[in-house]
Amino acid sequence: MNYLIGIDIGTSATKTVLFDENCKVIASASREYPMLQPQNGWAEQHPEDWRDAVLQTLAEVTASSGISGEEIAGVGLSGQMHGLVMLDENGEVIRPSIIWCDQRTGKEAVELTEKVGADRLIRITANPALTGWTAAKILWVKNNEPVHYARCRHILLPKDYIRYILTGVFATEVSDASGMQLLDVPNRCWSDEVLEKLEIDRSLLADVYESCEVTGTILPEIAEKTGLSVSTVVVGGAGDNAAAAVGTGIVRDGKAFTTIGTSGVVFAHSSQMTVDPKGRVHTCCCAVPGAWHVMGVTQAAGLSLNWFRNQFCQDYVQEAEREGVDPYDLMNKDAAGSPIGSNNLIYLPYLMGERTPHLDPDCRGVFFGISAIHTKADFIRAVMEGVSYSLSDCNDILVEMGIHVEEMMACGGGGKSPLWRQMLADLYGCRVKTVAQQEGPALGAAILAGVGAGIFGSVEEACDQVITPDQCNEPVKEHTLRYQGYHDLYRHLYASLKDRYAELARLS
Ligand code: XUL
Repeated sequence: MNYLIGIDIGTSATKTVLFDENCKVIASASREYPMLQPQNGWAEQHPEDWRDAVLQTLAEVTASSGISGEEIAGVGLSGQMHGLVMLDENGEVIRPSIIWCDQRTGKEAVELTEKVGADRLIRITANPALTGWTAAKILWVKNNEPVHYARCRHILLPKDYIRYILTGVFATEVSDASGMQLLDVPNRCWSDEVLEKLEIDRSLLADVYESCEVTGTILPEIAEKTGLSVSTVVVGGAGDNAAAAVGTGIVRDGKAFTTIGTSGVVFAHSSQMTVDPKGRVHTCCCAVPGAWHVMGVTQAAGLSLNWFRNQFCQDYVQEAEREGVDPYDLMNKDAAGSPIGSNNLIYLPYLMGERTPHLDPDCRGVFFGISAIHTKADFIRAVMEGVSYSLSDCNDILVEMGIHVEEMMACGGGGKSPLWRQMLADLYGCRVKTVAQQEGPALGAAILAGVGAGIFGSVEEACDQVITPDQCNEPVKEHTLRYQGYHDLYRHLYASLKDRYAELARLS
C-alpha cells in the first residue's frame, strides 16, 4: 500500500495528516504557534515556528502509524497565503514573516498601482493592488527596512519555505503564487513587466510549477529526522483555499465552498478566467491545471470568535476543560439560544481591516446596539452573524459576476458548527452541505501529492474517488426574512463609519 501526507501550515497551527492511498486518515498531528501583533493592524509569525511544527508533526505521524518512509509516496504542502518569507544567502530567515492579514501596506498598495498602472495590474495579476498580498509587503520592506532588503536572496511563501526546509529546493506553484501579485495569472508564469516596474529582481523568486507537479524529494537529514524517505516526492501543493477546494471536491464549474477558518472565504471554481472589474473578490489560478478560482475574503472570521473566546470566555474554556469538550461547542450551544439578530446586537468583523467587499485596511470591529439586556450568548451569536453577513456579501458578488453556483459546501473549523452553517444557508438562500472528509486543505494537498506520485490520474478523478457527501442545511425562508433587516443595517453601518475609521487610524 502507498501512503500520502498532507501538511497545512495554518495561522493558528500546522496540521499534518497521513492518509492511505484511498485517502483514509491513518494518523494526524498538529502544533499551535502564536501570531505576533507588534502594532495595531500588523501581523507576523516566525517561519522557524512553522518549520519546527512541521518537523515535529511529521515525526509524530510516522512514528505513531509505524508506516515506513519508503511506503510514503508523496507529500503535499498547503498553507496560509500571501506571507512574505525572506532568506539570506545562507538560507537563514532575515525577519519575521509579515502574514496575510497584516494591514501596514496602505501606502505601498498605492505605490504598486502607480508604478504598474491600475489597468495593467488587473490585466496581468487579475487583481487590484491589495494590502495583504506579498508584492505590497516586499515594497514595504524595501521602503522601511532597506538593510534587510539588501540582504535578501530568496522570497518565499510560507508553505514554500517549508518545501525549502524539506527538499532544499526553491519552488512555488501557481495557486499560491497568484496571491503574490507578481504572477501573470492568465499565463501562469512570473510577470517580467510587473517585476521590472517594481524593480524586484526575478532571481529572488522561486520556480513556478502546477500544483500537482513534483518539485523535489526529501533531503537525507530531513528523512532521518522525520521518518520520511529520500524517495518521497514533494509536489507543488496549493495555497490553503485552493487546497481546501480539492479536499472538498470543488474542482469543476458550478461548485463552490465557504470556509470559516481564521479567515473566511467564499470560493468558486472557474474553468474560464473571470475578474471582478471592481476588484472586490480575488481571481487566482487554482490547483486544477488550466483552471482558476474566484474568492471573496473576510479577514477575521474564525479569528473573531477566537479573539472573543480568548478575551472574554475563560468561563467556557474552564468548563470545557472540566467536561473534556471543545469550548466552541459550549459557546455554540449558548449562541443557539439567542434569537436571530442576537437581541438587536450587530457585530462588524473588521478586527484586521477588511477585504471583500470594502478593501479597507483601516476599518475595525464594532458591536452596535449594546444594551443592558445582552448576555454573553448574544455577543457570541452576534459575532457569528456578523461573520455570516460578511460571507453573504462575498457570495452576492460571485452571483453578481454571473458565477453559477449549483452546490455550496462548508468547511474549516467554523464549518463544523451546524448553527453557523444554518446561518449561511439562511443568508445565501441555498443549501449548504458538508463532505464526510474533514481534513480540508491537508486532504487537498495529499490528493495533489497522489496525482504527482502517479496514484491518481488527475485531480478531478481523485476527488470523484475519494470525496463523499455528508450533511445538508436547508435554508429556512422565515429565517432569511428575519435576517434581512439586520443584514441591511450591517451594510449601512460600514458606510456610515467609513470616514471615521480613517480618522481613527490617523490618531495612532
Ligand atoms: C486568502 C487569505 C487567507 C489566508 C489564510 O486570500 O488571505 O485565506 O490564506 O488562511
